[in-house]
Amino acid sequence: MSGTSIIESSDTAQAQARRTLQALWQRGCDFLGSEVAILGGAMSWVSERHLVSAISNAGGFGVIACGAMEPARLAEEIAATKALTTRPFGVNLITMHPRLEALVDTCLEQGVGHIVLAGGVPGAATIRKVRDGGARVVAFTPALALGKRLVKLGIEALVIEGSEAGGHVGPVSLNVLAQEILPHIRDVPVFVAGGLARGDTVLGYLEQGASGAQLGTLFAASTESIAHENFKTAFLRANARDAVTSVQLDERFPVIPVRGLTNGGTRRFMAHQAETVRRFQTGELSREDAQLAIEHFWAGALRRAVIEGDVEEGSVMAGQSVGMVKAVRPVREIIDELVAQAVAALARRGQGVGRSV
Ligand SMILES: Cc1cc2nc3c(=O)[nH]c(=O)nc-3n(C[C@H](O)[C@H](O)[C@H](O)COP(=O)(O)O)c2cc1C
Repeated sequence: MSGTSIIESSDTAQAQARRTLQALWQRGCDFLGSEVAILGGAMSWVSERHLVSAISNAGGFGVIACGAMEPARLAEEIAATKALTTRPFGVNLITMHPRLEALVDTCLEQGVGHIVLAGGVPGAATIRKVRDGGARVVAFTPALALGKRLVKLGIEALVIEGSEAGGHVGPVSLNVLAQEILPHIRDVPVFVAGGLARGDTVLGYLEQGASGAQLGTLFAASTESIAHENFKTAFLRANARDAVTSVQLDERFPVIPVRGLTNGGTRRFMAHQAETVRRFQTGELSREDAQLAIEHFWAGALRRAVIEGDVEEGSVMAGQSVGMVKAVRPVREIIDELVAQAVAALARRGQGVGRSV
């Protein structure tokens, strides 16, 4: 084969690979209204107007993290995001927020196209309200049975998030969730999340039936992320094994697992639990007060790390993919690289080359 025809055949392989990738995640793109089916997972304090608009402007789908915001504050954030992008973006609402219904109203009034309901099983009335209001509704499922139930309730897309992810996590890895759920839920698009940092890995899940992927950790360390420099530096220094889930000391006092970087705060949390259990045993604290004392330990801690840069005592939520964060890069570069890795993997196969580079 001449030099020219080698180049031509590799160009053709690239073009074919791009078409194949597009076909694999077309359903996800159609659902989101984005160029690529990559969602920026909502991250409290991090996923605000700048990061969300940057992800949408780069062809992905940004999602505002409402967290504990009140409706007026959320309305302000949505309006500010709209001023920075004309592309679609979503809003993530925590189902146990005491003003959930008012927050849904805010999103609908502001014309938000997609609402992601997180942090618990959404009620049928909330799902109906979102749909009747003209927005698409997305939820998380940690298991196949619940996923099927959510689809029956009217959920239009699901996210399955493995325990590798940053933030609040379930106990099961994405590898297992994908095998358990992807072959059996075909009625709605399913997006995979947790531990993703490379396009060829995302491709593997698309081939298993996923319609796209959601990433958090990589975007938290992007140029456009407003996270404090100390927060990003902690990400750059960390290895996968540093992003661990919070440990529950006593089965009588449940601790919701949160994955983040080990630091002074995580060590103090163990001592705090031990001391709280001791105070409960001596009768100084009731069971309810002891549980509250444990839950309140992390109040405001994510803000302290993300905004104030206290990465020693704050909560530095991060997924295991943190070990693959090697530089603070613009969102567009991150997304383009994910796409290029997926395309390269497909093109290599087209040329009969299997080795990953
Ligand atoms: C700092 C941080 C904060 C997060 N906050 C939220 C949140 O408020 N709501 C939510 O649904 N998920 C939250 N997540 C999870 C992300 O949306 C996303 O699903 C997850 O980061 C994907 O896994 P990855 O970190 O391995 O990419 C958070 C993750 C991180 C790293």
